[in-house]
Amino acid sequence: MDTLDPTPEKKRMTFRSKSAARSEAAKPSGTPWKILVVDDDPQIHILTEEILKEFTFESRSLLLISGYSGHEAQELLGKHPDAAVILLDVVMETSHAGLDVVKFIRDKVGNQNLRILLRTGQAGQFPEEKIFEEYDINNFLEKTDLTSRRLKTALKVGLRAYRDISELDLARQRESELRLAADAASKAKTNFLHMMSHELRTPLQGTKGPFEEFKGQFHLFSGVKRLRSMIHSLNDDQMRTQFASALQETYDEVVDIASQGLKSVEHLLGLIEDVLDFARIEAGKLTLSIAPLAIQEPIQDVITTLRPLAEKKGLQLDAPLNETITVIADGKRFKQILFNLLGNAIKFTNSGSVTLTVSHHGKQALFLIEDTGCGIPPEKLSVIFEAFEQVDNSSTRHAGGTGLGLPITRELVSRQGGEIHVESTPGQGSRFSFSLPLA
Ligand SMILES: Nc1ncnc2c1ncn2[C@@H]1O[C@H](COP(=O)(O)OP(=O)(O)OP(=O)(O)O)[C@@H](O)[C@H]1O
Ligand SMILES: [Mg+2]
Repeated sequence: MDTLDPTPEKKRMTFRSKSAARSEAAKPSGTPWKILVVDDDPQIHILTEEILKEFTFESRSLLLISGYSGHEAQELLGKHPDAAVILLDVVMETSHAGLDVVKFIRDKVGNQNLRILLRTGQAGQFPEEKIFEEYDINNFLEKTDLTSRRLKTALKVGLRAYRDISELDLARQRESELRLAADAASKAKTNFLHMMSHELRTPLQGTKGPFEEFKGQFHLFSGVKRLRSMIHSLNDDQMRTQFASALQETYDEVVDIASQGLKSVEHLLGLIEDVLDFARIEAGKLTLSIAPLAIQEPIQDVITTLRPLAEKKGLQLDAPLNETITVIADGKRFKQILFNLLGNAIKFTNSGSVTLTVSHHGKQALFLIEDTGCGIPPEKLSVIFEAFEQVDNSSTRHAGGTGLGLPITRELVSRQGGEIHVESTPGQGSRFSFSLPLA
């Protein structure tokens, strides 16, 4: 191997087009492309420099960086990770030094962007096909055939490929940065929702207690008790009747106000629970306690709670349950699913009926909630399962709600091994169905 000690000036040379200096339009601009030229023959370096003297690609000149052995090539690669192309000799300090450099670039450094142009004077010893098969190179040139035109074309092809790969890399990097930023924003939003709803829930729960006390135990308040016994001991019948009726009136008024307050607080607590559930789902922190569950009792509970709501709207609410069915589910969440779906059916139905029927097919229990309400337009059928999506989200809409019920319901059903579906005819009604595994 001829290992000539290269002079420092030889190691770094920038070529800028001479003709470009004359013509402003063709003047190379931007940073030059870094090209590593690795060959143990100084003549090859001189020749390469001569051929590429005036070469530009996309108005950028070349910065040729020379190395004279495989070992030196590895050092240069460490210093210039942004090199675009390497013109690499095969036989240098060993008969396969160049091929070792290829392995070093791709496997050790993991640089897949650098375009590798292998140049060999011993083409017979290294069949092109075999080299391409075994080594991740991008071009194979024979030194004997290395005319100026061929080298320039090969370099142009290499640079073009490098440019495309780098642009793709950059786009990918930008996309991943954007995704990271979006993830962070979404996480911050979820944390905020979680924190706020926790903070709101505590004082609200504190408000619930007094309202409940007024509603249920006002007659046990000591002042009320004393008043009642004073009225009781009055001798004047007429006065006694009048005082008793005034006390009853006060009692009814207090209970009425307390009931309204309690309803609002419970409604708010329900909303906060929904937001909390949503935040838990987003953060992947929703936990369920799944066990065999006889469905009759929870269904009765839900129907009993919702019946006054249906009756107030003059709706018939039916849930005929003929057989005992046991599913595998979380009792609290099972009721939540029914509350959401039956609650929606009642909310969006102004006349007619809401019916819940249960059947079973194979290993699944099927729950069907049918209503004769306003229905849902076909284009909205899949959208309503997204968070905050409502068919009518105008401020003038009649029905209240935040649009979290269905996304939470869908998550609860799928987390318990079931599926939820909807069919609807606008103006006629909707059918929501969901499945759960049978015990
Ligand atoms: N049975 C139904 N009939 C007609 N429209 C329905 C029915 N169920 C749901 N929708 C439509 O789907 C939308 C989303 O329902 P979802 O339960 O997610 O939210 P919401 O009921 O509006 O509010 P929330 O449940 O958070 O109180 C509703 O706003 C409504 O437009
Ligand atoms: Mg709802």
